[in-house]
Amino acid sequence: MPGTHLTALPITPKDLDRYEVENVFHSWSFQPTVSPKRVVSAHGCRFTDETGRDYLDFSSCFVNVNIGHQHPRVVDGICKQARKLCSFAPTFSTEPRAVLAAMLANITPGDLSRTFFSLGGTEANEAAVKICHQYTGRHKIIGRYRSYHGGTAAAMSLSAGDPRPWSQPTAAVRTLAVPPPYCYRCMHGQTYPDCNLRCLKFVDEIIELEGGGDQVAGIIVEPIIGANGIIVPPPEYFPEMRRMCDKWGILLLADEVMTGFGRTGKWFALDHWDVVPDILSLSKGLTAGYVPLGATVVRTDIGNYFRDHFFGHGATYMGHALACAAAIEVLNLYEEENLIDNSATLGKYLLERSRELQDRHPCIGDVRGLGLFVGLELVRNRRTREPLVPVAGRVCKEGNPKTEVGAELVNLGMIAMAANPSNVIAMAPPLCATKSDIDEGIAIMDRALRKADACVEA
Ligand SMILES: Cc1ncc(COP(=O)(O)O)c(C=O)c1O
Repeated sequence: MPGTHLTALPITPKDLDRYEVENVFHSWSFQPTVSPKRVVSAHGCRFTDETGRDYLDFSSCFVNVNIGHQHPRVVDGICKQARKLCSFAPTFSTEPRAVLAAMLANITPGDLSRTFFSLGGTEANEAAVKICHQYTGRHKIIGRYRSYHGGTAAAMSLSAGDPRPWSQPTAAVRTLAVPPPYCYRCMHGQTYPDCNLRCLKFVDEIIELEGGGDQVAGIIVEPIIGANGIIVPPPEYFPEMRRMCDKWGILLLADEVMTGFGRTGKWFALDHWDVVPDILSLSKGLTAGYVPLGATVVRTDIGNYFRDHFFGHGATYMGHALACAAAIEVLNLYEEENLIDNSATLGKYLLERSRELQDRHPCIGDVRGLGLFVGLELVRNRRTREPLVPVAGRVCKEGNPKTEVGAELVNLGMIAMAANPSNVIAMAPPLCATKSDIDEGIAIMDRALRKADACVEA
């Protein structure tokens, strides 16, 4: 409100609603005319809105609050660091940044050892792409359809088949797109395992046609595709892809922004298949959302290359002390509270309970997942696999049957990942969830899915 003294700005609930609607620019949406629910507190797997109503968080917000909300250890760690030193110029060393980089070298696979810190998942991928270009001296990067790598121009040009970049030009990187191993809807019309991984042979052919290792710099992958549908690859897919990258001399860039830090039941999703990427992008579970932080971890040879070659990237908040202090506490908690084992064990239970939902709901075409990362793919017709909502229908102003399920979940007291750009409703509770949290979440999902059942063709 121009002219009002800042300290006199009214903050009644009605005022806050108005600021939200008139002054906040909301992401990935038509700007709202009604304020979203205001959250005032959160604890573990629950949060509370302004009216005092409690909700179950079955998505860890944006699949980032892996350790649960408001863990006192992390809050204390941030406060302790804030009292000592909030931040300093990134050309100097600070204790939390050095310690965190060493911890990441410890938990990441193989010889991944040097970390560039940034502010989030998008920036982690932006740095990954720049490192890949600068290290190889080549420009073409392969992305896969149904991927999401972030909101900047470079990250979006690699997010093929995600409708979010449609509204803007994205030509920051020379990209090629190839199909992912989406066995439920194979773009090659094949069936696993008879396909002999046709999708990967296709990538091999594309690399050859595009000039092989002389022209192609790398391939970027989400090991388990998240926002575009919880797509779990066959077990031999990534070991084969690693061999293919080595054959051509191109880099494997793993975007584990969503799948990292125990989400799939191991520290990193590629650990399931013993694959070491050349560059690993991380964020979300790194600080569990307590303070924004991104990390791009590279193998020793790549890191050492930049001893003799100028590294052309940087930012004022690179390795912010408060974020690094938060991450140190969060990483310790994964170990001390056995959160990654819990994700593996409870994830199996969540998958089992989700398959029971499939038995009851004709709108569920497929159920898949690994760890506490499980998706229900919604269809209009199980036999033909006709999607519940076509791709173009997902970026319209009007609601659709999937967003109705999401709204019904909130009415019933729970959030899940329902607003993503696929037909999949993903369930990804904090890794501290219990069996009874899973039972409660499944019971709520059971009721909400009736909205989608109503659209199933007779
Ligand atoms: C796999 C993946 N990469 C990158 C991003 C972008 O991360 P951020 O929103 O922190 O920029 C996301 C966000 O959901 C993601 O899921």
